[in-house]
Amino acid sequence: MIAPRPHLEPIHRTPDDTESRLPFLRLDMNERIVPFPESLMQKLREAVTADVVMSYPELEPLYQTIAARTGVDRDELFLVPGSDTGIRTVYETYIDPGQIVVLHEPTFAMHDVYSRMYQAQVRPVPYNSRLELDVDRYLDAITPDTRMVVVESPNGFTGTALPVEAIRIIVEKAHAVNALALLDEAYYLFSGQTVQPLYREFDNVIITRSFSKDLGLAGLRCGYLLSQPQNINSIFKVKAAYGVSSLTAVFAKVLLDHPEEMAAFVTSVQAGLAHLMAGLRGLGLVTVGGRSNFVVTYLGETVDIPRVIAHLREQHMLVRRPFRVDSLRGWLRIGGGSVNQMDRFISEFGGILHAAGWRADSYAPPDGVEAAHA
Ligand SMILES: Cc1ncc(COP(=O)(O)O)c(C=O)c1O
Repeated sequence: MIAPRPHLEPIHRTPDDTESRLPFLRLDMNERIVPFPESLMQKLREAVTADVVMSYPELEPLYQTIAARTGVDRDELFLVPGSDTGIRTVYETYIDPGQIVVLHEPTFAMHDVYSRMYQAQVRPVPYNSRLELDVDRYLDAITPDTRMVVVESPNGFTGTALPVEAIRIIVEKAHAVNALALLDEAYYLFSGQTVQPLYREFDNVIITRSFSKDLGLAGLRCGYLLSQPQNINSIFKVKAAYGVSSLTAVFAKVLLDHPEEMAAFVTSVQAGLAHLMAGLRGLGLVTVGGRSNFVVTYLGETVDIPRVIAHLREQHMLVRRPFRVDSLRGWLRIGGGSVNQMDRFISEFGGILHAAGWRADSYAPPDGVEAAHA
């Protein structure tokens, strides 16, 4: 065997799924599960012509549409095949071996892979028991030797968000030590807030956004980076010849041209999440987050979470495997859909909870969590 580069040796990747997830109610990967209206799917079919399929992708119409809809300039944008690739591109452009990346824990799983690929030294800061970031601890972790600071808000594991003002303070500190601030807004339309103005104010800010979550296009792989033009020019140097496909660009544009459909989807998920949280509280459980398209609920370490997950699977529902990060042990993440979809989940989940070992009299949520929901 020809050995790969030595620093790739410790990287562990989850094998690809061999079984289709499509027949299931997919509450496990923060995807859209509310179907697109047939009228929109029809528009997509009409937009996919033979020329679109045969020619190399033309992304300019999508660039112009994003610029117009988000109020940014064309030269402040960089389209990527999923924000996963956007994040990788940032590492590829800016991170040299040995440089320090400050990450909160949990954070999007691919940071672990990219930091190893690009040989960064990660300085992790764990979330507190309420699954929130302690901003003062994070600021302390940003030192003159820091190359990049990552802020994910809302967080993709907990659904908790930082106030924009707190993110601003982190960006200022990063700026003061000449470090990049990578701000991940994968769920921003659900959260009702954005850090968008910060990239114009600070030349060290790169914002990454995904079309997988609030636009619901996870299968098409699309997202973009947003930053000052000189940063976009640097990032452009490492771009693949063609990344985002024609079909992706065509459908993303169709969707962006229907803001009423985007808004209706966000509203339906928010109503579903409110219903889910009320249902979980009705079962006696605490919940946290909900600023994205999922909720986390604390079951406790005595509950057999794999059994809960196996039971739901038998009922054709997928939820995420138990968390491995220490600060998330005992928590379960549940994806959000319509009120009806959430009803289906609550009734199955309520049926297995006691059988899996949950007891109201011994239930003890982590410090501070009950207070936050009182
Ligand atoms: C916070 C966060 N960032 C980035 C991503 C990657 O999204 P995608 O590559 O589908 O655009 C995810 C996906 O779950 C996420 O939760």
